[in-house]
Amino acid sequence: MGLLAGRTALVTGGSRGLGRAICVALAREGAAVAFNYSKDEEAAAETLRGIEACGVRGWSFKVSVLDRVGMQALVKQVEKDAGKIDILVNNAGIGQVVPLALMEEEDWDRVMDTNVKGAFIATKAVLRGMVREKRGRILNIGSLAGVKMMQAPVHYSAAKAALKGFTEALAKEIGRYGITVNCLAPGVLDEGVSGNLPAARRDEYLRHCALGRLGTCEEVADFAAMLVSDRNSFMNGATVVLDGGV
Ligand SMILES: NC(=O)c1ccc[n+]([C@@H]2O[C@H](COP(=O)([O-])OP(=O)(O)OC[C@H]3O[C@@H](n4cnc5c(N)ncnc54)[C@H](OP(=O)(O)O)[C@@H]3O)[C@@H](O)[C@H]2O)c1
Repeated sequence: MGLLAGRTALVTGGSRGLGRAICVALAREGAAVAFNYSKDEEAAAETLRGIEACGVRGWSFKVSVLDRVGMQALVKQVEKDAGKIDILVNNAGIGQVVPLALMEEEDWDRVMDTNVKGAFIATKAVLRGMVREKRGRILNIGSLAGVKMMQAPVHYSAAKAALKGFTEALAKEIGRYGITVNCLAPGVLDEGVSGNLPAARRDEYLRHCALGRLGTCEEVADFAAMLVSDRNSFMNGATVVLDGGV
């Protein structure tokens, strides 16, 4: 029996990168997994195949995390099919390497909205069901850039720091319903949003990282699966850094 047998999870931004790895890690632990994405249909189909190859049910929805009505409908559908959603991983996020001096207002809004407002919308959508069940696990994917002073785009760092605050306040507010809220803050990984980092920034990370390498989506995802399981029952409001030692 896997750590998550009998559970149902929703992962936002599951079509590729860390989101896909989390979908598959949760499925491998026995959870039925639903995910959404906004653009990449081919990649989403591959994630769905990865989930189903674990022998569990999967759902894929082309719905942006910023589409409040669409997210509510998605949650309703999964709750109808599976009975409930036990786990939400707020993973959908975007980054953009640009100095503040060249940052447009639209850049700021896009990064803040996808990373922060998206988590707000997805969380609102699942919360009623979790409160009804008096159980739930919410895991927000933050970043080292949100907890530590480092070379990172200002809007991205601000968004990830906001998720840390979101985690803490929400954990305090809904702990009484048996719902935990935590934040996982990875350092630089070898794929995903870090793909557009200039080589000099990667090299700097490698110089400061005690393990001397970038992280992988799979190792972060395996840890995320443990964090949302019953094995992790008393951690609440925490932001856990996974960065190889920076
Ligand atoms: N990779 C790293 O080094 C690293 C480090 C620390 C934290 N993180 C965090 O990890 C999370 C995943 O990042 P990643 O590196 O895996 O990036 P990625 O490979 O670019 O994947 C981002 C995922 O989010 C989805 N997405 C983007 N906008 C969306 C929207 N509006 N609605 C729904 N889905 C949306 C994308 O799908 P579509 O494009 O199809 O919409 C994709 O599935 C992010 O929160 C990121 O900040 C990453």
